[in-house]
Amino acid sequence: MAVDIIVGAQWGDEGKGRITDLLAADVDIVARYSGGDNAGHTVTIGEVVFKLHLIPSGIVHDRPTCLIGNGTVVNPAVLCQEIDGLLRQGVDASPRRLKLSRQAHLITAAHIALDKAREARRGGEAIGTTLRGIGPAYTDKTSREGLRAALLEDPQSLTDAIFAHVGQKNEVLQNVFGQQSLDPGKVALELSAYANRLAPYLVESSAFVHEALQANKHILAEGAQGTLLDLDHGTYPFVTSSHPTAGGALTGLGVGPGAVSRVIGVAKAFTTRVGGGPLPTELQGPPADRLRGTGENPWDEYGTTTGRPRRVGWLDTVILRHAARINGLTELALTKLDILSGWDEIKVCVAYELEGQRIDYFPSELKSLEKVQPVYERLGGWPEDITSARRLSDLPRNARRYVDFVAESSKVPVKIISVGPARQQVVWDR
Ligand code: GDP
Ligand code: IMO
Ligand code: MG
Repeated sequence: MAVDIIVGAQWGDEGKGRITDLLAADVDIVARYSGGDNAGHTVTIGEVVFKLHLIPSGIVHDRPTCLIGNGTVVNPAVLCQEIDGLLRQGVDASPRRLKLSRQAHLITAAHIALDKAREARRGGEAIGTTLRGIGPAYTDKTSREGLRAALLEDPQSLTDAIFAHVGQKNEVLQNVFGQQSLDPGKVALELSAYANRLAPYLVESSAFVHEALQANKHILAEGAQGTLLDLDHGTYPFVTSSHPTAGGALTGLGVGPGAVSRVIGVAKAFTTRVGGGPLPTELQGPPADRLRGTGENPWDEYGTTTGRPRRVGWLDTVILRHAARINGLTELALTKLDILSGWDEIKVCVAYELEGQRIDYFPSELKSLEKVQPVYERLGGWPEDITSARRLSDLPRNARRYVDFVAESSKVPVKIISVGPARQQVVWDR
């Protein structure tokens, strides 16, 4: 069978976990292909809210096996905590249900210390990372000095590798950043306890994926982050250190493009971003507070991983067209449409003005992005609460018009419309 890919179309937190949960019931494997515990994916089932960072959202279903793929970076302590947390919520995340690629890279205490030191050094220019050690772990991977998860099943090699790794990072921490050094023995000891627990989870992941495909199984690749946080295609340098886009799913799982069937872009009905960097449609003051929410509701715009208030703005269709091109989107899932209820008028950015010229592409350079002015189209709002809508015909005329506008201006059909965080709060347009 095939691989379907779920990608974030904006700056992350679009509701990928929620959409993965919708689609996971019918698949055999749900796999994360990039990022690490910088991700925070929320799945709401009845009264129960699951917050997942590393483990694919499919784990909350009984059927699919979940895979943490080779393109990810994994903090063993966080993974163990997440497995335990799921167990407390009655979810089996044992090696029977969950697999970890031997090729995934490990995040250590030294990576986290370096992430913090680099961010502090950047001062006002800080990226606003999640401080989870993501950047330094991927840097080690690309400089061919990384620690792969396979070490977890070889205690002596793990200890040796940790001593060398911490020794090398200590030089940088002390000499470049004036920070305290880490105790390699302590880091190795901590890791060896996690290694014992995690070794049974390890698999040859690309072989695992290929066997599944040969057996006609259906794989759902769950993206983390979003298109504009992609190392190449995002708002560099205000990006993450991996490839959350559809191309990243191929290298991050070890499959070829021919295996891919659907590429589902998850887009929020407005725009949010956590951390620094450009956000052309950003709002301030009361309209921003209204979109963000006060934090009383679990779905209000505060980071799942860091609790930081998210920056918010109107929907930007320049970004959706960019995401459609970069990922080859076959469809869109539009989330949080319910949050737009009650506005008299809703603005949607359709193009930018850059130095007096109208442009309809997303500029790659920060200095251009900082200057662009959004060109807005104004659409009529709707007063009705739409959280009980289950069919297109349940949506008010202007809400349907909003969805049609998104599809027309991004040139991608909107197949899923989410009108609330719960599993059943969805309108399918099949
Ligand atoms: P992800 O990182 O892309 O998985 O998204 P997050 O889980 O970080 O953030 C999305 C938030 O919006 C979560 O709290 C979801 O429960 C919530 N959510 C998702 N879809 C909807 C929706 O249609 N309406 C509302 N009100 N909340 C939603
Ligand atoms: P999900 O999967 C939103 C952002 C950080 C920061 C930048 C770099 O929940 O959508 P990093 O720690 O990755 O080096 O930080 O990327 N970021 C996210 N923003 N959602 C995420 O994940 C994010 N993961 C990273 O806020 O701006
Ligand atoms: Mg999130």
